[in-house]
Amino acid sequence: MNAAIRTLVLSLLLAPPAVVQAAGIDAQIERLAGEARAADPAFSAFSLERGAELHQRAFAGGKPDTPACATCHGKDPRQAGQTRTGKRIDAMASSVSPARYGDSEKVEKWFKRNCQEVLGRA
Ligand code: HEC
Repeated sequence: MNAAIRTLVLSLLLAPPAVVQAAGIDAQIERLAGEARAADPAFSAFSLERGAELHQRAFAGGKPDTPACATCHGKDPRQAGQTRTGKRIDAMASSVSPARYGDSEKVEKWFKRNCQEVLGRA
């Protein structure tokens, strides 16, 4: 996945600050920050504001019925979301869903799939 997109998305996952305490997310952030630095020496840090903005933004490059991450995950990462077919998706904030981000393969799988759907690229 594009390092800049990953950077923005991961910064979203830091919100709210309490989420930082969760075990799994720290390892993901460290791993992805390493990849971002390797891909772009100018990378300095994740941005909460840019991540939150990206989560809400409607993109034109993906599938028309899923313009934003928030389409399925909802605007508030502390609330449950739902798929297009109405299936519940547990809240993205690991302060609410502690099992989140424990598995790098799961994170990669869904980043790839969801970025393809929303942004039209992985
Ligand atoms: C079409 C609906 C849909 C859209 C749009 C969507 N997601 Fe997802 N996402 C899901 C589903 C379903 C899961 C897997 C179920 C779960 O983890 O609860 C998931 C899981 C994830 C995971 C894995 C979380 C974990 O626990 O490891 C991440 C990260 C993620 N999504 C990020 C995003 C981002 C970033 C975007 C926008 C670029 C996005 N999603 C847009 C439906 C969606």
